[in-house]
Amino acid sequence: MPTTKMKASIYKVYGGPEVISYGEVERPEPKPDELQVKVMAATVNRTDCAMLTAKPHIMRLFCGLTRPKKQILGTDFAGQVVATGSKVKHYKIGDRVMGFHDMGVQSHAQYLTIREKNPMVLIPEGLSYVKATASIEGAHYAFNFINKVKIEPGQEILVNGATGAIGSAVVQLLKIKGATVTAVCDSYNIDTVRSLGADHIIDYLREDFTDQEKTYHFVCDAVGKSSFNQCKRILKDGGIYISSEVGNNGDNIFKTIQTQLFKQNKRVIFPIPSNVQESLNTIKSHLEEGKFTPLIDRTYGLHDVPIAFTYVLKGFKTGNVVIDMSDLQ
Ligand SMILES: NC(=O)c1ccc[n+]([C@@H]2O[C@H](COP(=O)([O-])OP(=O)(O)OC[C@H]3O[C@@H](n4cnc5c(N)ncnc54)[C@H](OP(=O)(O)O)[C@@H]3O)[C@@H](O)[C@H]2O)c1
Repeated sequence: MPTTKMKASIYKVYGGPEVISYGEVERPEPKPDELQVKVMAATVNRTDCAMLTAKPHIMRLFCGLTRPKKQILGTDFAGQVVATGSKVKHYKIGDRVMGFHDMGVQSHAQYLTIREKNPMVLIPEGLSYVKATASIEGAHYAFNFINKVKIEPGQEILVNGATGAIGSAVVQLLKIKGATVTAVCDSYNIDTVRSLGADHIIDYLREDFTDQEKTYHFVCDAVGKSSFNQCKRILKDGGIYISSEVGNNGDNIFKTIQTQLFKQNKRVIFPIPSNVQESLNTIKSHLEEGKFTPLIDRTYGLHDVPIAFTYVLKGFKTGNVVIDMSDLQ
């Protein structure tokens, strides 16, 4: 009789990494329109952190007002289809798949079930599960950063936080579009950022990027550490400031509306992510063409998920932190 249990990383209340435990739960069975996937790898990312801690507080509206509705975290996954519901048309047992949902797919577990119509793609041939999952969350947000504006080859673009999951993907996607990229990182990461394709690098431990004379068509703050007011003077006429964070008191949302309503010369865009399937399709083709390589900081086993969260919550990971579950039986 096959076991119906699986190993999982579980949380029942909001809090820090200490509320997460490692244990056994019922393995989910697929409904007619669902796949059952054996998860081989998933990331611990900043979206997971928001769901774990319920910060910002608005997360409670989506994840559960008093306690989490889903007791397993994880927003992205790379794995193998092991069972299909009776109505599944496009996937079969044995397919290698990668997918994402920003409200969680419960991938910090050995198995998950997912509707066939959830954003998902087949993993490019020869790409490891670890690399596949590291190409999803940050790359999706990065894609949504830059598809909100029209980027022309040769335009000057500054990326702050170029070593984060989002920033490292933004740099690569901008280079694919032919932009000239100035990346901001700390001294230790200069070689890493250069390997992503950045044309110019500013070490933020030595220089404040908002103080320079050079001006840019776009300033993308992938870690939300600056403000529009600080960056205004380094934007060219018609330049746009984009940030991954809402800013102090929702400043970036307010200024997005204000600068567009009053047709101001320099504008703010707060990129609201949409259409995950389009991000996945785009990243998949870049992976297949060898134009995109995910930046991976480190990997952990499933039992070490709390340690992974402790590290990711510090806000200084270099690219992606991956949970490698390929050895779990
Ligand atoms: N808007 C959305 O829908 C959305 C979705 C997901 C995440 N987010 C937000 O987006 C941000 C980035 O996410 P992520 O996963 O890319 O973050 P991450 O991987 O945790 O970013 C870590 C990187 O940030 C850099 N960093 C930290 N402080 C910095 C500073 N003062 N100046 C410049 N760089 C600094 C570090 O670079 P060094 O090592 O070089 O110091 C580190 O490599 C987070 O704030 C997250 O909450 C937004």
